[in-house]
Amino acid sequence: MSLEKTPSETCVLVTGGAGFIGSHTVVELLEGGYQVVIVDDLSNASEKVLDRIAQIVGDEAAERMSFIRADVADRDALEAVFESFPIDRVIHFAGFKAVGESVAKPIEYYGNNIGNTIALIDTMRAYGCKDIIFSSSATVYGDPDALPLTEQSPKKFCTNPYGWTKWMIEQILMDTATADPEWNVVLLRYFNPIGAHESGLIGEDPKGIPNNLLPYVAQVAVGKRDCVHVFGNDYDTPDGTGVRDYIHVVDLAAGHVSALAWMNGRTGCEIFNLGTGTGTSVLEIIKAFSEACGRELPYVIEARRPGDVTANWADCTKARELMGWEATRGIAEMCRDSWNWQSHNPDGYGE
Ligand code: UD1
Repeated sequence: MSLEKTPSETCVLVTGGAGFIGSHTVVELLEGGYQVVIVDDLSNASEKVLDRIAQIVGDEAAERMSFIRADVADRDALEAVFESFPIDRVIHFAGFKAVGESVAKPIEYYGNNIGNTIALIDTMRAYGCKDIIFSSSATVYGDPDALPLTEQSPKKFCTNPYGWTKWMIEQILMDTATADPEWNVVLLRYFNPIGAHESGLIGEDPKGIPNNLLPYVAQVAVGKRDCVHVFGNDYDTPDGTGVRDYIHVVDLAAGHVSALAWMNGRTGCEIFNLGTGTGTSVLEIIKAFSEACGRELPYVIEARRPGDVTANWADCTKARELMGWEATRGIAEMCRDSWNWQSHNPDGYGE
């Protein structure tokens, strides 16, 4: 049975806490009064993030943050973390996340994402810590039969190994909670996180050519790439381009703090969609970003990208009713904050 604790008494292990969603969540946790231990191997993140987080939250809150550079799959390192800190709950972000790369490297993706999760929950169990929030994805809904997507919508076939790792890790955690009623599992299904902290100090820093729409658009805006490639304008949507539920990463981060408060003292397994409930097309995104950066961004229409769905957006009623969480920021703020980050950090963290 998980103990009910106040934030200042709660020590949260954040795996992948130096990454895009992880770093924004750490800011919200520190501002919410939690103790935070980040474990990140920095394979796809920069240590500079830690200074930026400290700048945002201030020295006093930053004292509640610890950082251990380690791979979550390294059991000895994980055990050392549980020996050194009184971990109460875990938020598990660490994992490989490039969809295209996952198709080329399935063994690496299944090995890393599933392997590190098993190492983590096995270690948690050994130390009597059974409270976990997992970073899942709307990708588990596959090509939807009906919109909006609720948590009751069926899980379907994924189009790539990355998606399957989210699908399977959800199953592993559900089975774990079924087998041992002391587990307290929250699966958060993210829609499309974009934007950046409004300070412009932390944001998304993809390596190489961005796969996702927003970082690509931001790099066009800053002059690093010539034009946006729109993958298909013959979808059955109002303007023919793909429609997604984009959510501001700070709203998403706040969703984790709400989930921590909600799971306090509970057991079982619960799933929540985290989105806005609104769909936006690729062309609407390009238009909104053009307004944010003050320049018409050029684009060309290309063929559809294999594996893409026509449209998806979330029904977030459950998160509102149970956790009292709701996204508050719109597309204009998402583009403004993304542009603020990109224009002040054209090379990301510069590594
Ligand atoms: C993708 C992943 C999803 C993952 C998410 C992380 C797939 C099939 N899905 O979602 O599993 O959780 O990223 O954020 O890859 N687009 C363009 N031009 C671009 C890039 C994208 O037109 O250069 C379009 C896409 O066709 C799509 C929309 O923009 O309609 C959003 O694409 P993207 O940002 O890659 O996210 P998803 O594909 O929704």
